[in-house]
Amino acid sequence: MPGPAEGADPLPGGGLVRFARSTLRVRVAAGGAVFCGWDGAEPEPSYALDGGCPDADTRAVIEPDKDGWRVVSERITVLVSRHGAVEFRTPGGLLLRRDLPPRWWDPVNTAEGAQPRWVQRSETAADAAVFGLGGRASGPRLGEGTYRLWNTDPGGAFEPQTDPLYITMPLQLVVADAGSHLVFHDNTWDGRVTLRDGEEGAGSGHDRPGGCETRMDGGPLRYWVIPGTPARILASWTALTGRPALPPRWALGYQHSRWGFGTAAEVRRVAAGYRERELPLSALHLDIDHYDGHRVFTVDRERFPDLPALAEELRGHGVRLVSIVDPAVKLEPGNAVHDSGVAAEAFVRDAQGDPVRGVVWPGDALFPDFTDPRVRTWWGGLYAERLTQGFAGVWHDMNEPVSFAAFGDTTLPRSARHALEGRGGDHREAHNVYGLTMARAGHEGLRELRPDSRPFLFSRSGWAGMQRYGGTWSGDVSTGWPGLRSSLSLVLGLGLCGVPYSGPDVGGFTGSPSPELYLRWFQMAAYFPFFRTHSAIDAGHREPWRFGPKVLEAAGAAMRERERLMPYLYTLAHTARRSGAPYVRPVWWGDPEDRKLRACGDAFLLGDALLVAPVLEQGATERAVRLPRGLWYDTVTGEAYQGPGQVLLPAPQERVPVLARAGAVVPVAEEDGTVTLEVWAPAPGRDGGGTLVTDAGDGWAEPRVERFTSRVSDGEVVVVREEHDEVGYRVRVRGAAF
Ligand code: NOJ
Repeated sequence: MPGPAEGADPLPGGGLVRFARSTLRVRVAAGGAVFCGWDGAEPEPSYALDGGCPDADTRAVIEPDKDGWRVVSERITVLVSRHGAVEFRTPGGLLLRRDLPPRWWDPVNTAEGAQPRWVQRSETAADAAVFGLGGRASGPRLGEGTYRLWNTDPGGAFEPQTDPLYITMPLQLVVADAGSHLVFHDNTWDGRVTLRDGEEGAGSGHDRPGGCETRMDGGPLRYWVIPGTPARILASWTALTGRPALPPRWALGYQHSRWGFGTAAEVRRVAAGYRERELPLSALHLDIDHYDGHRVFTVDRERFPDLPALAEELRGHGVRLVSIVDPAVKLEPGNAVHDSGVAAEAFVRDAQGDPVRGVVWPGDALFPDFTDPRVRTWWGGLYAERLTQGFAGVWHDMNEPVSFAAFGDTTLPRSARHALEGRGGDHREAHNVYGLTMARAGHEGLRELRPDSRPFLFSRSGWAGMQRYGGTWSGDVSTGWPGLRSSLSLVLGLGLCGVPYSGPDVGGFTGSPSPELYLRWFQMAAYFPFFRTHSAIDAGHREPWRFGPKVLEAAGAAMRERERLMPYLYTLAHTARRSGAPYVRPVWWGDPEDRKLRACGDAFLLGDALLVAPVLEQGATERAVRLPRGLWYDTVTGEAYQGPGQVLLPAPQERVPVLARAGAVVPVAEEDGTVTLEVWAPAPGRDGGGTLVTDAGDGWAEPRVERFTSRVSDGEVVVVREEHDEVGYRVRVRGAAF
């Protein structure tokens, strides 16, 4: 333990508290995030931070307090006790978080690289609700239990209780009446977070605080705390770790994938199926079966004789091709990728200097060390082959990384050596950033190769900061009603970790969903940023016409509604880019102090304007929906409902309930492509508004941002475009209650 304090020295943004056996650096950064580093830990080097550590807020200074020291800043007060407990309080003095003095264990094994493990116990408010920790199947609110921090392919397909999954992050968003905060332990090692719910002492005044224990197998004890509203927190978090990459506009369209199209003819047949039924299709994804013997960056020329021609033909119908990219390279002298990797000394080695061999789809394989900048450059260059084949985007898979094994951990040995940007280290430290650094290599490669286009990249594994390079998807979610729920949990949870672009395998990865389940999945995902059907090689089909005419009709309606909402969705993509606010938000986003909303994980907000209540239960034809405060309209019936409160809404097979916030200005596309402003009548005496962001759909030109306000004047709904005399768009008023 740190032992008793001996003194404190001022330093920019706070100071350094000296304890008998350790030190604590407290540093408030410009923007309000607080860094705490024990035992000499500095903010850098870090895989999470984008562009280094932000400047210190020099107004924040350390000063003596009754039981230690305090650092007061605009948004948060940090109190350090003489024994090393650290409290974070709101400017009004309410407690957000108390971290008890940490403990370290000296490594038993004193071999080179042995690191002390550490544990930190923390307390939060009795009413605190915790979200985040990366992509978790059992959320969005994380219940009591232990969550592991080790990116893992669960193998097969996952269920809500499967943990961990592909993306873990030592990051929690803690929501409580006193205020919300984010805490991020900047440490890539294996670890465990144990959460315990608090308990309010009904009138006795003796609350039991919420509890959290973070245990890490090594690495620095350093962390960031960011206070504020959820919107402010996500803005600060993505300022710190990078704003989400902006997808090209086509990536917001509906996409179809399958492991096992098998041939170019089948790809054409599926594309034609959409066309014939006049269903919008934006992209088709080719899985590993289009590779030559599962070798990355190759094509099976018998089954796909002319991929560039196929890509061009599809492009003529408005359909792009997206390629899977696996990190493992077949161990095969003579294979160009293998040989160039060997020449570039790109592959992970063991302590003896021999390449680490694993087994993945192509058989014996080697693993690029993406923590080496040289290797990233080599790998990024390989994407030229994908571009030549006509692919418009990439899908990173198996990058936890996975190496098949009959038992034990299906990844690289912990002793495998990694460059870690020149610092050197082993897989214990590099494992969790393998997917992140692969994404960086791919993203930078694509930017270099095609500088005028935005890379479209999504990755199964990742870590804090991955949003800089692209998005992600659910991975192998099992087909069943529980998998449908997990899909929502993942999208919401990842959004709160700063990764806004994601979505599930619609219909589930395995087996064959019932028509009803397929349709409910489809209807929900139609409101997610990434809207893609996908399934395993031995699973049933996922084309919407495979489930009977009723499903086809309803799925078609969901697709058309998505197309109609495209200007709004694209605006949300820009909003995420500008502010870190996810497209898909929990219903408590604007009302974190509403406890009933906090407990509600079965609906979501799409931006500010829409509330989507997917049907998650078999047989349901209506559902209870908890409304945030304000007036809400059922977008189909036009019926108005007053929140906060719970309402029962019709949810027939044809649609899931979607509500619009009174006053919202939602840009929608007409069939001819022009934009109309759909304005939901403001509640009496209230204003509303909305935004429209437009650009060329790709490239880097500054977008055009137009802001609108709505109000009722003399019984009429009036929409005004900021800084303009004319509103500039067709306006359609809906839900007018007068
Ligand atoms: C695992 C991925 O999660 C899945 O989406 C993909 O189809 C298979 N790997 C085969 O590449």
